[in-house]
Amino acid sequence: MATSDVLGALRALVNLEIMAVRIYRGQRWRLGRSEITAEALAEAIAVEERHVRELDSRRQELGGSRSMLSPFYAAAGWLIGFIPSLLGQRAALKTGIWVEERAVRDYQRLLDRVPFDDESRALVERNQEDEREHIRMWEESLAKLGRRGA
Ligand SMILES: [Fe+2]
Ligand SMILES: [Fe+2]
Repeated sequence: MATSDVLGALRALVNLEIMAVRIYRGQRWRLGRSEITAEALAEAIAVEERHVRELDSRRQELGGSRSMLSPFYAAAGWLIGFIPSLLGQRAALKTGIWVEERAVRDYQRLLDRVPFDDESRALVERNQEDEREHIRMWEESLAKLGRRGA
């Protein structure tokens, strides 16, 4: 039987991942044709969508209720993605790094405090590693941008 802490953590993570999907969709709306970010954004969106799917199905398997706040996170995410991207790729990439560093910290905070079952813990750890990979990806894109002097 899952504890309410575990269900609460899964619910919170689903919302954060819904926000992540929308952040990158907001960026893509503006930068989807850019040489440096287009492909990386498509890849990031696919990974964040997988995070939403897997966390949400784990929540369902454990009998947790769904969050009523998801639409709020979705809307906030889109704005966090779209608005900085108006300033260009560099601002969008820096937002991406900021968001992913927060995600890594949020995942760690939950890993430290929540008594996850083995399967849920493995999923959370896998996702955290994906977020670390996103930080590397955005830093690389920023470096490429710098080399072009854009
Ligand atoms: Fe994610
Ligand atoms: Fe990510």
